[in-house]
Amino acid sequence: MLFLEFLFLDVVLGGSITENVVQKNISFYLMQISSYANQSWAQNRGSAWLDELQTHGWDSESGTIIFLHTWSRGNFSNEELEDLQLLFRFYFSGLTVEFQNRASELQINYPVDIQVRLGSELHSGEITKGFFHAAFNGLNFLSYQNKSWVPSPEGGMTAQKVCDLLNIYEGIKETAYYLMNDVCPRLLLGLLDAGKMDLQRQVRPEVWLSSSPNLEPGRLLLACHVSGFYPKPIWVMWMRGAQEQLETKQGDILPHADGTWYLRVTLDVAAKEAAGLSCRVRHSSLRDQDIILYWGHGLSVILIIFAVIVPLVLLIVLVLLCKKRCTYQSIS
Ligand SMILES: *[C@@H]1O[C@H](CO)[C@@H](O)[C@H](O)[C@H]1NC(C)=O
Ligand SMILES: *[C@@H]1O[C@H](CO)[C@@H](O)[C@H](O)[C@H]1NC(C)=O
Ligand SMILES: *[C@@H]1O[C@H](CO)[C@@H](O)[C@H](O)[C@H]1NC(C)=O
Ligand SMILES: *[C@@H]1O[C@H](CO)[C@@H](O)[C@H](O)[C@H]1NC(C)=O
Repeated sequence: MLFLEFLFLDVVLGGSITENVVQKNISFYLMQISSYANQSWAQNRGSAWLDELQTHGWDSESGTIIFLHTWSRGNFSNEELEDLQLLFRFYFSGLTVEFQNRASELQINYPVDIQVRLGSELHSGEITKGFFHAAFNGLNFLSYQNKSWVPSPEGGMTAQKVCDLLNIYEGIKETAYYLMNDVCPRLLLGLLDAGKMDLQRQVRPEVWLSSSPNLEPGRLLLACHVSGFYPKPIWVMWMRGAQEQLETKQGDILPHADGTWYLRVTLDVAAKEAAGLSCRVRHSSLRDQDIILYWGHGLSVILIIFAVIVPLVLLIVLVLLCKKRCTYQSIS
């Protein structure tokens, strides 16, 4: 496999992508993933997210909020955060007990996975109405609309029964409403402000090309790797001159542990047609200066690097050797 890594081989002025790339809508939501294996085994996982960036975790052993960033407290006081922590602790333990007590009454068969997403969104600077969605074994189950619980069609009779049951309790409805329409919007704005430095950072991608022989003889699968960029929106295309290669296949944008992103974009070509292809990358961190890497130009660049570096290393070795000698001479 040919593996070439070099940065900014060619930089040209491109069209203005920055406006398209700037994100105007952002959501903040709490997520719950609960698994019930049987009558006696349950696991609750909790987290909070700003779009695709996790801001908080939940330690279910100790029942405490995990703050994942220095700015994860937003502008909330310790008292308010402790109140929330207590609320979640109470909710998780209460839900588990209630679920296990009522599973047979509601004709629920184990194992069960429950996912809940609750939060609010900022659209072009305006907070919109909060949302609450619950899924049951991967299917929509119920949501919260107009201050009451509404079953989803996929949820069937069970969802109807659960909603009927939940709608009796004003306290639960009010708590959900308060979380969606008060806590989440305030935390969303507070986090955006406190985390500004982190959230508005621009990290340039590293780009490199590789190829592997495709399944068919005489064909190559060219891959353009774009790694370590932030924020997530990006445009990557295989090109021949100014012509976008429409057979370009884009993979999923995958997260790195440090919050930056990785993307691999491939093109299946006849080996003899590979020369002259290039991979073009547009990203807000690059402003209008797209990165363009040409396929096949790599070797000459590496040769140039060798041509510069090898004599340099030799020179350094010579200098070091001379120094050593000089020292010995002065001692003797
Ligand atoms: C933001 O949300 C509004 C309302 O849903 C939508 O019309 C608009 O296209 C969205 N903008 C972006 C950049 O996604
Ligand atoms: C319940 O499920 C857990 C986890 O899968 C398992 O370890 C345990 O043996 C099960 N208990 C019963 C009573 O089936
Ligand atoms: C919301 O509920 C109120 C009273 O329960 C009702 O009058 C109103 O029509 C409902 N609105 C929607 C959009 O369902
Ligand atoms: C945090 O900031 C938001 C938005 O500026 C504001 O509405 C809220 O009152 C502030 N304080 C708290 C404790 O939420």
